[in-house]
Formats: sequence, C-alpha cells, structure tokens
Amino acid sequence: MLYLSERDVERILDVREVIEVVEEAFKALYKGRVLLPLRTRIESKKDGGDILSMPCIIEDFSLYTNKIVSVYPGNIEKGLSTIHAVIVAVDASNGVPLGLIEAGYLTALRTGAVSGVATKYLSRRDAEVLAIIGCGFQARTQAKGVGEVRKIEKIYAYDIVAERAERFAEEMSRKLKVEIEVVGTAREAVEKADIICTATTSNTPVIKREWLKPGVHINAIGAYTPNMREIDTETIIDAKVVVDMKEAALSEAGDIIIPIREGRYSEEKIYAELGEIVSGVKPGRTSDEEITVFKSVGLALQDNAAVYALLRKYIKELSMK
Ligand SMILES: NC(=O)c1ccc[n+]([C@@H]2O[C@H](COP(=O)([O-])OP(=O)(O)OC[C@H]3O[C@@H](n4cnc5c(N)ncnc54)[C@H](O)[C@@H]3O)[C@@H](O)[C@H]2O)c1
Repeated sequence: MLYLSERDVERILDVREVIEVVEEAFKALYKGRVLLPLRTRIESKKDGGDILSMPCIIEDFSLYTNKIVSVYPGNIEKGLSTIHAVIVAVDASNGVPLGLIEAGYLTALRTGAVSGVATKYLSRRDAEVLAIIGCGFQARTQAKGVGEVRKIEKIYAYDIVAERAERFAEEMSRKLKVEIEVVGTAREAVEKADIICTATTSNTPVIKREWLKPGVHINAIGAYTPNMREIDTETIIDAKVVVDMKEAALSEAGDIIIPIREGRYSEEKIYAELGEIVSGVKPGRTSDEEITVFKSVGLALQDNAAVYALLRKYIKELSMK
C-alpha cells in the first residue's frame, strides 16, 4: 500500500489540475454517480476541536476515500495547524486498499479548487480585484484557486491578527506575482473587491451587505457548523446563492441556517447546487450587477477527486522512471 506525505502531495499536485477534476466530480454528483453520505462530526468540547469522518465513492473514478479531518481553532496560538487530515484510499471495484495520504495540504488545495470552479462560473469575467478575509492556511489556496480562473491584478488582505495578513502578503505576493495590500478593517478589504474569499474561523459575520460593490462574487468557505457564519443575513437575502450540496448546507452551514432560523430566508431561495451550474442545467452569473455567493462547507467528493488526480499522476511518474 502506498504512503504519500504532505510533501509528496505538494510536489505532485497543482491547483489547476485539481480544479479540473473537482469540476468533473460535481458533474458526476449532479448525474447521481457519487455516493456521498453526510459526514459525521465528533465535537470534543473538552479540547475545543472537531473531528470529522468523510467517506465517498465517485463511481466514474472507481475510488473510495475516507478522510479523517480535525479542526482545532485554538491550535494556531500553539504554532500548530488548525486542520490536520489523513485519507484512506480504496479501489472501489474490488475493495483493495490503495494508500494512505497525509491530507492537510490536499484539503486546502481542493477547497481552493472548488472556489476556483465557482469563481469561473459566478464572478464577472472582468473581475480583477480580490479580497481575502482571514489570512490563514486556506487563504493561500483560495488566492491560488481564484488566480487560476481570473486575471487578478490586486489583492486586499485582512485578518483580525494583522501579523498574519502581513505574512500572507509577503509570501503570496511573491508566489502569485500580484500586489497585495494589507488593510486594517474587513470593510476596506471588501468595498473595492470584485471577488471576496472568506476563510476565517469566525462565528459572526465578517462582511456586511452595505459594504459590497454591485456585481461582487463571494466564496464563503470558513463556516462549517450550524452556529458559525461569515456572511450577514442581508447579503444572503440579496444574493444569488449557490451551495456545494443543499443537504449539507442545510445541516451544516450557519451562513444559510441562521437566516432561515431568523425567518428571513428559506431553502427554496437557494438558487442552485454547484453541480447544476457546471453541468449547464442552470446558468451561473447572468448580469454584471448581481451579487453571487458560493457557500462551501466542503464535500468528501472534493477529497476523492483530488486523490484520484494525485494517484493518477503518481502512477504515471512511477511508470516513467
Ligand atoms: N469549506 C471547506 O471545504 C473548508 C475546508 C478547509 C477549512 N475550512 C474552514 O476554513 C476555516 C479556516 O481554516 P484555516 O485552515 O485557514 O484556519 P487558520 O486558523 O489557519 O486561519 C484562519 C484565519 O482566520 C482569522 N480570523 C478568525 N476570525 C476572524 C475574523 N473575525 N476576521 C478576520 N480574520 C479572522 C484567524 O486570525 C486566522 O488567521 C476553518 O473554519 C476551517 O474549518 C473549510
């Protein structure tokens, strides 16, 4: 059985190929060729963390994966990553185990990739200013994912801990060759933005409707429990909202669940699932003025797709040696 480390994943995979395979996976989901139970979450209140188990089979890839992923928001203060993950991959045609993959970076990559797919279909084609709210681990691959599908000329970065935004700007301006300006408030970051990515561990909204430009597209990826949210109710009400999967969003996404609980939003108002958009069943953006929101809680199918791309490339590398 194979073992691939974080370093192997970083060396082998890049965000562009993950964007392609994640888009295929969402098409397969729409066509009913993905087996995807809701994930289970064990909340360890004593330790202030969550551990989730995320199984999936994508029939087109004949691949079963199960990711064990932990989210410990207090880790960052201890110099540890917030997220750690490991994936078991099994050949779904015969049940034979294929490998064990260290998957912290892979998780960030597939999350950046899904924002890339959503941005391709939902942002304005001429979008060039990106705002990043929350400059931790996910922020890096969010910027990469968006940068693959739109020509970004400027990034505004904001984090409640200014030093994290400074570090992000220094590292990512070099990697992406884009000017990054660190700003002192979320409002300053978003009011000039054509695209916004929120990648925080916040429980309360980090962006407000009144700050937004017409035509902005938002990828909200940080909140993944019913009580966490990054987007205010007014933005959800006014936007064309696309989710990764309705069932998951309605059980896990505070960004959607809290406005419903307040009696100001309803399930029927969700415009589409991403699979419907990438399959061409519903159009993505239809005007330059509309505000679009992609709410991602993160699906096991994204991990499965990224592992498929990883193993395919790794086996090709081996055969060329
Ligand atoms: N949707 C998905 O598929 C997906 C995938 C991976 C992670 N996540 C979630 O994304 C979130 C971020 O993950 P990470 O690995 O980048 O964590 P991280 O701890 O590395 O980064 C989070 C950053 O957000 C900042 N932050 C917190 N509250 C803020 C606020 N109110 N305003 C501005 N900045 C704020 C923190 O200072 C930190 O720099 C987590 O909640 C995680 O569970 C979602």
